[in-house]
Amino acid sequence: MKEKISFLENKIDLNSPNKNIVPITTKVEINGKLSIGGCFIDDLIKRYDSPLYILDESTLRNSCRAYKKALEKHYPGKSLPIYASKANSSIFMSNLIASEGFGLDAVSEGELLTALKGGVPNEMIVFHGNNKSDKEIEFAVKNKIKVIVDNNHDLKRLEEISKSFNCDLDIMIRFTPGIECHTHEYIRTGSFDSKFGFGIESLKNLFKFINKTKHLKLIGLHAHIGSQIFELDPHKDLGEIMVNKILEAKSFGHNIKELNVGGGLGIKYTEQDDPPSIEEWIKTVSISVIKACEKNNLKLPTLMCEPGRSIVSTAGVTIYKIGSFKEIPGIRTYISVDGGMSDNPRPITYQSNYSACLVNNPLNLDEKFKAKYTVAGKHCESGDVLFKELELGQCKTGDLICVFGTGAYNYSMSSNYNRIPKPATVLVNNGEAEIIQKRETPLDLLKYDVLPDRFIK
Ligand code: LLP
Repeated sequence: MKEKISFLENKIDLNSPNKNIVPITTKVEINGKLSIGGCFIDDLIKRYDSPLYILDESTLRNSCRAYKKALEKHYPGKSLPIYASKANSSIFMSNLIASEGFGLDAVSEGELLTALKGGVPNEMIVFHGNNKSDKEIEFAVKNKIKVIVDNNHDLKRLEEISKSFNCDLDIMIRFTPGIECHTHEYIRTGSFDSKFGFGIESLKNLFKFINKTKHLKLIGLHAHIGSQIFELDPHKDLGEIMVNKILEAKSFGHNIKELNVGGGLGIKYTEQDDPPSIEEWIKTVSISVIKACEKNNLKLPTLMCEPGRSIVSTAGVTIYKIGSFKEIPGIRTYISVDGGMSDNPRPITYQSNYSACLVNNPLNLDEKFKAKYTVAGKHCESGDVLFKELELGQCKTGDLICVFGTGAYNYSMSSNYNRIPKPATVLVNNGEAEIIQKRETPLDLLKYDVLPDRFIK
């Protein structure tokens, strides 16, 4: 008898994929093997090799629809969910979110270009960043993309660049609302001590200053308080603080039509995580904005939010092949896989935890062979460990491991450390698999190396 059921046997919440560890189409088939999107994982590896990122289209679309539906249900004014493309930027992701009626948040010329190539209409894109280059600002202005102003330098450059283009620009202002939330300190952004945005205390002067500019028109306010947040209260407070700032802007003659509350909703990486649903999050934000507007007799602004992780993380998994075993008697057994910190830098950066199982023995029905392993990556760094302790069934070299919840901030933060090529990404849906990102090769990595002529003998 098994003592506890596996996370693979949890009931799946189709309406809020962020509440599941696994993509919503995940199944343990009758032959005991794991499938996602109707595709057997071991077959995918035979076809596409390992390591491999897999994205499940149904999970992606259900996440997008949950945001859309909740906004329609709980917010009577206009609304626009915007995908934070830093979570996973690709032509495919841009195309998918545009097809679901989402806008997109970009923070570099690369992300902007990817969005445009993927078919996101320019008027649905917002451009963020605490140190945008002139070239990037010019790219945004030329393409009529709305800029979210982060600091005085940004403001000055925007005024100068719009003057040189002889055009007027709609801008939004990002500010730090002074809200603390419980998440890793590297991904907390709403407190006063943050590199992002204007301090809340500087807004009055800023509103005055913008009045003096010739080409800039302030139409919106933005704040983002952090990422992987499980509490609802910070976002309840945020709605109210932001509406109060609309009032303050009004007293300086600005008509704020758009309110962007950022992203931040957490996802379930492990059994211990219990994030709110997408609907609960949207409902909390909506009620706080609606109430504060009613209290102050303000027309409802267009409500925007910027989810990243809760759109793409649960839709993604990474498959690795087990290579070497190293048993240190009385201490631990290392198993090493064919990827690691280059395709998933989150464990070494944030001490992040994930859930995983064997692809061809996911439920580990034979309890006799249960063992705990430390799962290490293949990079030259002792800290390159994906799991400090992972319970698996009997496994051997060549077996496959599926790590869940890797759709966000894995590929987008990946590197080529040790000149390791990035894995391919495959989209699965209804039993079909399609490549959306090709596997890099070692030769690709040499493409930008140059040996000056005088070194060539
Ligand atoms: N909007 C802004 C302005 C942001 O800075 C972010 C995330 C988002 C939206 C989306 O937040 P989300 O819904 O994904 O929580 N690399 C870290 C996460 C960094 C988040 C950066 N900003 C990680 O792997 O956990």
